[in-house]
Amino acid sequence: MSRPVDQQVNGTGREPLILVAASGLARETAEAVRAAGRHHLLGFVDDNPERWGTDIDGLPVLGGLEVVTRRPSAQVVLCPGPGQARRRLALRLAEAGVTEERYATVVHPSASVAGSSELGPGCILLAGVVLTACVRLGRHVVVMPNAVLTHDDVVDQYATLCASVSLAGAVRVGEGAYLGAGALVREGVTIGPWSTLGMGAVTLRDVPGHQVWVGSPARFLRPAALAPAHH
Ligand SMILES: CC(C)(COP(=O)(O)OP(=O)(O)OC[C@H]1O[C@@H](n2cnc3c(N)ncnc32)[C@H](O)[C@@H]1OP(=O)(O)O)[C@@H](O)C(=O)NCCC(=O)NCCS
Repeated sequence: MSRPVDQQVNGTGREPLILVAASGLARETAEAVRAAGRHHLLGFVDDNPERWGTDIDGLPVLGGLEVVTRRPSAQVVLCPGPGQARRRLALRLAEAGVTEERYATVVHPSASVAGSSELGPGCILLAGVVLTACVRLGRHVVVMPNAVLTHDDVVDQYATLCASVSLAGAVRVGEGAYLGAGALVREGVTIGPWSTLGMGAVTLRDVPGHQVWVGSPARFLRPAALAPAHH
């Protein structure tokens, strides 16, 4: 078995972890990982060679994405802020043979996650997040500080909920949707895939996919510019 190599190196018995993309979110994720104390942080990997060998917040940038395949005993979490970039990386890593079991789920210890909730692989929940009851998060969902998700909310893969987002009950957030800081969503409302809610949007009705809505009450602003190709 090759798995214990990194554990021998770190000597702690904690799971080694690589953060993919040396982004602001990755630095925040590193802090959540340190606070939770369940993983041993190996460092970041990043596509930008200028960052290789540098240190960020005391952690090394180990190299490019190939480090993930060179270190099969390490767990991985995808840290770009935009869901679309997380999706691209997940597809590249899947092509390189990286399986779902490699993805860690990072939960800051101050988050309150109901036992009836389900978190997909690669989710990141920062400080103060609350999932009240039967909340389901898909793969690689990011939930930023103090967001509150209530009963029966379903958030699809690659979605991003910024700080202090608040979802009433039975809200559905589609794949890759981006909910800006402080956005509020009324009960039972659906936010379509790859749509964006602006900061503070008070969202009272369903938002179709691939659109940007802002304001109170939230209204259509423009089509979403960065939606990935349909697949
Ligand atoms: C919604 C958003 C994506 C729009 O960005 P944009 O397309 O660059 O839009 P602009 O800044 O050019 O603004 C276009 C119009 O929308 C308005 N607008 C933009 N964001 C708004 C918001 N959150 N609420 C209300 N109106 C907003 C602007 O005032 C402007 O109105 P005008 O045409 O009457 O002057 C962006 O403003 C936003 O809210 N992003 C979320 C940021 C966030 O939550 N960051 C947290 C990171 S953790």
